[in-house]
Amino acid sequence: MKKSHIYLLAAGFALFAAAGCNDDRFDEQPPVIEGTGEEGGEENPGEDIPQSSYNELYRPQIHYTPARNWMNDPNGLVYDNGTYHLFYQYNPQGNEWGNMSWGHASSTDLLHWKEQPVAMRRNELGDIFSGSAVIDADNTAGFGAGAMVAVYTSSGEHQQQSIAYSTDGGMTFTQYVGNPVIANSDRPDFRDPKVFWHAESKQWIMALALGNAHAIEFYGSPNLKSWTFLSSFTTTSARSNIGQWECPDLFRMTYESGTKWILIVSNNPGGPAGGSGTEYFLGDFDGKTFTADDLDYPLWIDYGSDNYAGVTWSNVPDGRRLFIGWMNNWNYSGAVPASPWRSAMTLPRELELLEIDGSFVLANKVVSEIENIAGSWQPLSGTIAAPAYELKTTVKLSENSTLRLSNGAGEYLEMTVNAATRSVIVHRTASTGKCAFSGLFSIPSVIMPIKGASDEVELHLFVDQSSVELFTADGSSTATMVVYPSNIYDRFDGADAEYRELASVW
Ligand code: FRU
Repeated sequence: MKKSHIYLLAAGFALFAAAGCNDDRFDEQPPVIEGTGEEGGEENPGEDIPQSSYNELYRPQIHYTPARNWMNDPNGLVYDNGTYHLFYQYNPQGNEWGNMSWGHASSTDLLHWKEQPVAMRRNELGDIFSGSAVIDADNTAGFGAGAMVAVYTSSGEHQQQSIAYSTDGGMTFTQYVGNPVIANSDRPDFRDPKVFWHAESKQWIMALALGNAHAIEFYGSPNLKSWTFLSSFTTTSARSNIGQWECPDLFRMTYESGTKWILIVSNNPGGPAGGSGTEYFLGDFDGKTFTADDLDYPLWIDYGSDNYAGVTWSNVPDGRRLFIGWMNNWNYSGAVPASPWRSAMTLPRELELLEIDGSFVLANKVVSEIENIAGSWQPLSGTIAAPAYELKTTVKLSENSTLRLSNGAGEYLEMTVNAATRSVIVHRTASTGKCAFSGLFSIPSVIMPIKGASDEVELHLFVDQSSVELFTADGSSTATMVVYPSNIYDRFDGADAEYRELASVW
């Protein structure tokens, strides 16, 4: 095992021990909302939101945030007729987790999002927990050819799977009268269905997470309504078995000389920087069983502290595999000082399967649509006056170096490039800005390995008001972190750099 991996494990285990393993997030059921839930609380009317409400302290300028209230996992990611839909776990009534509903935003370029009315609210089967959406082009369910069908977890007394459909492009959903489509009365964790059409076996496949049982189950269906158990996947990796397994995704990726199946599993609190993290398994899927190439994982999609519950869009044209994550961490998400909203999504990313030194790596890069908001590259000297920006720098791996993002208030985020371990270590300490809101927020180090054998590495940093996303140029390593400086880091030291402005999407 490489030294850098040992450090990573040690840091993770230390944080895990501090965080504790009990997941009490769902112990307190939110109050039951009578009727449709239309009454009470502040609503997000979409078009009535004044532009000024996107200018608050810490408000991301190039990342999706709802105008108001709490958000967690991306849900129901689906492309339909020129529009990308981003549904998400949402509390229409406040800035804390609760009253779980599906919020909704739509976009034609994955960057400029329009917040839409809440899509689904708690009903008699319970809260509307995470899930996915598909376009039923062949009308297998009988809701109409091209209907958008949402498959989600009803979280009431038990977690069960339900479906709802929309024939108006995702604006309104009708609950299927036969819900739940997969009933459950004994399993404590049974949630987050991700569904896709498997052409070879001519059926819909659902991946479902079993939380503390550390397993993903697969189900098959001809019509999205009746489901048959196919198989269960688990691993022997002690590290993977630390946390709850949540929010799976299963899809095929093509690489230069073949294809591979990828199973994504979100893991809380077993993540690489402590708390929430997203791992993946490489393998094969035959329409029934997922077989991993190697069970001694985890492989992480992102080495940072704040990329969780991410899944991919269904129905995207041109074979692109597009991913977005929740840019937060259950270790402290309820305490982050953003208001009147709480949480942003990561930048949307395109996944690519790379072969590096004989190993497969699921690389992720910011989508090419970023060009829509990007200015031209310029050499960096002095401060950067921009609502957000992308910075690139190349550092040698023959010697250690220290890179620093900072602002005029003396706050800074330091990144040390360690030549011996071939890693970038990001220090989210008290120097970064506001951090006392949670004892678990100051992470002494996030360790991002540099893959491959090159003697230098090109790094790209996407800096927004309250986040930094660090990528290697090939996307083979990435680290996403939220930070709360009193104003954006507008300086960079430690190496020559170029930057380009990223215009606000609001
Ligand atoms: C992941 C998760 C899901 C669940 C949802 C509830 O962050 O715990 O497993 O469906 O959040 O909001």
